[in-house]
Amino acid sequence: MSMIIKTAQFIISSTGNENCPKTDLPEYAFIGRSNVGKSSLINMLTNRNGLARISSTPGKTRLINHFLINDEWYLVDLPGYGYAKISHKQKTDFQTIITDYISFRKNLTCLFVLLDSRLEPQKIDLRFITWLGTCEVPFALIFTKTDKISASLFEKNKKLCESVLLQTWEELPPVFKTSASKRLGREDILDYINEINRSLIEKH
Ligand code: GTP
Ligand code: MG
Repeated sequence: MSMIIKTAQFIISSTGNENCPKTDLPEYAFIGRSNVGKSSLINMLTNRNGLARISSTPGKTRLINHFLINDEWYLVDLPGYGYAKISHKQKTDFQTIITDYISFRKNLTCLFVLLDSRLEPQKIDLRFITWLGTCEVPFALIFTKTDKISASLFEKNKKLCESVLLQTWEELPPVFKTSASKRLGREDILDYINEINRSLIEKH
């Protein structure tokens, strides 16, 4: 039986780790290029339109946004990387927000890396995933906007991405296929989170 989202509460927008909630609860964060669909996915997963702010203009999410789910775990909406239309200074600030969060957030349980399913593997995504390897943070891949391409093209891009990753990784991370507009992939991701949450409770 899949997880029911009873409550989804916006907690705080933070400029850095020091402002993030002090908590031991498991935390799942969403990262990826600007405009890839991070905020849309969070709304889809929680069934709350407007919980996370969405925009067709890239660079909408500029802070670390914490959402508390069922009073048991957190979803985190992060700023996108690779947004071109900002100053160098702003870019460095964004970068620091993201890398500090990923490197030092102790309760970060899994990082979901979102990839646009319409595109072949992008340098910036591959560079980011390679950097992740040095952080030892568990991660999973989520392909977004699959409503916008054919099933065959999706398979092609997914295989391409996996073969590139297998050049540097021994194993592939879990991979999810989603569409926020068609509400596709929701159960799979929530089941995955649920399973991890349960295994953490059993460890205690
Ligand atoms: P930043 O906060 O700017 O980094 O972007 P984001 O990754 O949070 O993307 P956001 O959720 O704001 O979505 C960007 C645009 O893509 C919006 O216009 C969304 O409506 C659209 N979008 C997101 N997910 C999907 C999807 O699954 N299918 C389609 N067709 N459009 C989507
Ligand atoms: Mg966003």
